[in-house]
Amino acid sequence: MQMLEQRYHLHRLDLAADPDALLAAVGGRVRAVVTSHGGGFPKHLLDRLPRLEIVASSGVGVDTLCVADCHARGIPVTHTPDVLTEDVADMGLLLLATVRRLLPAERWVRQGLWQKRGMMPLNRSVTGKKLGIVGLGRIGKAIARRAEAFGMAVCYYGRRRQEGVDYPWYDDLVQLAREVDILMPVLPGGEQTRGIISAEVLRALGPGGYFVNIARGSVVDEPALVALLQQGGLAGAGLDVFADEPRVPAALLDLDNVVLQPHCASGTEETRGAMAQLVVDNLAAHFAGRPLLTPVG
Ligand code: 8YV
Repeated sequence: MQMLEQRYHLHRLDLAADPDALLAAVGGRVRAVVTSHGGGFPKHLLDRLPRLEIVASSGVGVDTLCVADCHARGIPVTHTPDVLTEDVADMGLLLLATVRRLLPAERWVRQGLWQKRGMMPLNRSVTGKKLGIVGLGRIGKAIARRAEAFGMAVCYYGRRRQEGVDYPWYDDLVQLAREVDILMPVLPGGEQTRGIISAEVLRALGPGGYFVNIARGSVVDEPALVALLQQGGLAGAGLDVFADEPRVPAALLDLDNVVLQPHCASGTEETRGAMAQLVVDNLAAHFAGRPLLTPVG
């Protein structure tokens, strides 16, 4: 925001007491929009900005931005791929906290149960487990590298077998879920992937299986996930994303076998700084008539 303030005249829709009044007052003059996955950019906003030239989003996912509508009007959209890959992949290792039950173990110490009851119940190994990655893109591959370092076997589901990738490929998601110990979607959100992790896929993962999601809440049938976790139909889950953020299904808050995070996989000072810089640099390139650094499609 400081960098933007130095260079541009900002109108803060995110802080406006009356967003509609702000849009009515300045919408006709706005030339650029800065947003994020959480802020989004819906078509009804685009319709109020007749002089818009560019949308710059801080985030790799574009599922909350009306990209097709912008492109139809010749307005480019930029996002922030690559700079967040490693931090998001690190958060994929939420699977360690989930499988090794780090949070119940921490409570065991804090609540004095170590002294009262002695050793806590055993948890499960990560070494030797099979990780199924649904969508082996940049972030999926970064997670796979980490999983290999932990002695896990990696396999993946995708529309096509990838050239030069040795991990076993599955073209049947239910079969993949049946055969792995941990299932992790690493997919973009949006209509094409909505509900791809269906109740059937989760049931195939089964009572010994773990589900870890750092992608989007929309890719999973969340009510089915919650019900299976409640009924012992899954061993546990690590969730950084939810269907209706920031609202988290209340039932999850009571479950001991679930690790919850507030959609913060890219939320480090280093990565958010790099994402912000890329937003600023894309805007600068646009207004200087240079090629954009990271345009969407
Ligand atoms: C953030 C993300 O939520 O990059 C994405 O697609 O989901 C995240 O990095 C975000 O956009 C930060 O504002």
